[in-house]
Amino acid sequence: MACSINKTLVFLSVMAVLAAAGSCLQPVRTTAYTYPKLHFFPIMPVMAGTTVEGADLGRHLFYDPILSLDSTISCASCHKQEAAFSDAPNTFSKGINGQTTHRNSMPLFNLAWSPAMFWDGKSGSIEEQVFHPVRTHTEMNLTWAEVERRINSSKFYRDKFKSVYGSATIDSVLIAKAIGEFERTLISNNSRYDRVIRGEELFTEDELAGFDLMNDQTKGNCLHCHTTDADALGTTGRFSNNGLDKVSDANGYSDKGRGAITNKASDMGLFRIPSLRNVALTAPYMHDGRFATLDEVLTFYSKGVNASPNVDAVMSAHQSGVRLTEREKFQIKQFLLTLTDSVFISNPAFGNPFD
Ligand code: HEC
Ligand code: HEC
Repeated sequence: MACSINKTLVFLSVMAVLAAAGSCLQPVRTTAYTYPKLHFFPIMPVMAGTTVEGADLGRHLFYDPILSLDSTISCASCHKQEAAFSDAPNTFSKGINGQTTHRNSMPLFNLAWSPAMFWDGKSGSIEEQVFHPVRTHTEMNLTWAEVERRINSSKFYRDKFKSVYGSATIDSVLIAKAIGEFERTLISNNSRYDRVIRGEELFTEDELAGFDLMNDQTKGNCLHCHTTDADALGTTGRFSNNGLDKVSDANGYSDKGRGAITNKASDMGLFRIPSLRNVALTAPYMHDGRFATLDEVLTFYSKGVNASPNVDAVMSAHQSGVRLTEREKFQIKQFLLTLTDSVFISNPAFGNPFD
């Protein structure tokens, strides 16, 4: 094979050019990935060089149990497309040897906007995040040296990596990059809510009332944390304590959340504010899956909010909750149901490539 880049290729990703220019490598044939046109989303922080082929390679790795010690668990075991890539209806997820995670599995979509990954933000980027589940002994429990060995000894992956990245040796960084490319393409922007804000459909009266209640500071007052009005992500991405637990001392939170990462007293008991997109698909709710239904969540926000040293000022202003009537709770729930993106959960481009 000649040591030059095929000049007839129209689309070459930045990464592919760099990889191919670095050494005498096979020409790469990649097509830049075209992200959908988004309405009411902040501008996407895009990593240079997501390609159709890179995302597809990442998809294979995501669905392949090769990344777990006993080859029984893939990323998709705990992140299922039909549940918006959460592990609903499980409170905790089964990893290898029947061990379970200590937090509720998170749904995966619109990750590129997230300033930090995981409930506690312990990982700064999508690509860095990939390193965690593989190593974590309750999840996949495999060393990266072994991952590299396995992937390099698979002809299927050697060929794929070569054609996408032009690279003869596959290391952990490249594996994480490929999975990251797939994760970045998991965009949810086709719920009924999206169609309404695009002007294609209208809310029913109850859905509209629910939307208004969430964005009304004298009512649901959800907007400070879960955006749905001028920003369609469904979260500010901040860390916050929404008053789940009553504790008197900042060190008393049973899961210290963000505080265990930063060691700051003011971060104890804080968790990343989740997006409310696809929330009807991801029960149970909260970092520990303590609420089985959206009704339970709404009853909590209505009258079950607890005082504690780090409870968000927005919550504490209401003293034990925002006191919604049954009708208001019903209307908020009707709105929350419009956030279900059935196009996203049935898109074959995100499904299991081995099926
Ligand atoms: C055994 C179950 C399990 C497996 C396997 C698993 N995850 Fe997860 N995943 C979780 C749980 C639980 C969390 C939340 C953990 C936390 O915050 O402490 C999570 C969180 C994440 C997040 C953070 C999402 C966000 O919004 O911050 C991403 C991304 C992710 N996983 C991707 C992956 C990828 C990629 C793989 C495969 C390499 C994988 N997961 C394998 C259970 C799993
Ligand atoms: C002060 C910020 C704040 C406000 C205001 C707020 N939330 Fe939350 N919300 C959070 C945080 C933080 C979590 C995650 C808490 C945890 O797991 O420890 C959360 C979790 C949720 C969840 C669970 C999502 C999941 O994937 O598990 C739902 C549903 C929810 N909120 C709905 C609402 C609604 C509806 C309102 C208004 C009535 C509201 N929230 C007001 C911060 C807030």
